[in-house]
Amino acid sequence: MVAAISTAPCTIARVKGLILSGGKGTRLRPITHTSAKQLVPIANKPILFYAIEAVVAAGITDIGIITGETGAEVEAAAGDGSRFGAHLTYIPQAAPLGLAHAVLSARAFLGADSFVMYLGDNLIRHGIVPIVESFKETTPDALILLARVPEPQHFGVAELSDGKVVRLVEKPAHPVSDLALVGVYLFNHTVFDAIDSIEYSARGELEITDAIQKMIDGGRRVQSHLITEPHEAMVATWKDTGRLEDMLEANRIVLDDLPAHIDGTVGDDVRLHGKVIVQSGATLRNCTVRGPAIIGENTVIDDAYIGPYTSIYYGCTVRRAEIEHSIVLENSVIDDVDGRIESSLIGKECRIGRSPLRPRTIKLMVGDHSRVELR
Ligand code: TTP
Repeated sequence: MVAAISTAPCTIARVKGLILSGGKGTRLRPITHTSAKQLVPIANKPILFYAIEAVVAAGITDIGIITGETGAEVEAAAGDGSRFGAHLTYIPQAAPLGLAHAVLSARAFLGADSFVMYLGDNLIRHGIVPIVESFKETTPDALILLARVPEPQHFGVAELSDGKVVRLVEKPAHPVSDLALVGVYLFNHTVFDAIDSIEYSARGELEITDAIQKMIDGGRRVQSHLITEPHEAMVATWKDTGRLEDMLEANRIVLDDLPAHIDGTVGDDVRLHGKVIVQSGATLRNCTVRGPAIIGENTVIDDAYIGPYTSIYYGCTVRRAEIEHSIVLENSVIDDVDGRIESSLIGKECRIGRSPLRPRTIKLMVGDHSRVELR
């Protein structure tokens, strides 16, 4: 009898996904007072869905979603994952105590499997397929993604020596390089030993950079993959800059990639220029839409101008108004506004309009941490 001896190279067969959708989202207040920042739509699709789709596209369908205070909303939006061809397991994190703490919260779900950790508010334009493939083939203990950034002090920063990662520092005052950690990491189970041996940082979080540093110091194999735009992958990540400007930039990038498509009703008196998407049930009358732009389901655009890089979500009305380079969330109304609204993020069910009463004053009811610029 001859025993079968496998000559297959050592590869990782099974990789799980872990998408982080908890956190505090302080920099995107007031939107995050009431909603998960990961559910803010980019080109009319929640940012979290891009993350799930990217993980699924890499062949990973067993995905844990870390949630915080907004967990119920996240779960209601993403469901059981079947629409993505995935199985989603929701994992509450007791408090937003850092990325490494989020990994610890998923210990039971991850077991001894390797996993890709994906920050749920990050957008990686061309996905993560090559990175996951490289991890499976080269089987390091950790694989981190790096990108050159102009302001590394806002990011986790890596120092390389002969192409090897030797040091990681979270938001350094004096960065040793311009290589920032992008929000996708791959680990095998040895990351848990590292997390078990780190302390909370000065800002009160269990830092994933500290855990990876422990892995490096302990002789674990930590590889890095440098994203070199424009030839390779990534464009917009707002991981450490979860601000309005980054969200608008992500919206711009995604809209640029989408093909024109008309599902709704577009009147004869409507001028469409460039790439415009009109989703089902939307009605456009007597207006100009200059793409790239997307008009959501059951939204009405009437006697208005919608300029480039604008996403109007579902159930909205824009009448006698002009808006560009902006995101409007669901069921909001902009009616009879002088001047052009620009570079704005307008929340859900907002009413922006003119008061019929004199004197002509500005009346506001805006949430905490709102920003309103008037001239
Ligand atoms: P960050 O944007 O770094 O942190 P944050 O969401 O708390 O935002 P801010 O700094 O504006 O207050 O988080 C990156 C991603 O990881 C994001 O999708 C939220 C998620 N996250 C968790 O799930 N748990 C955590 O403990 C932390 C810190 C973040």
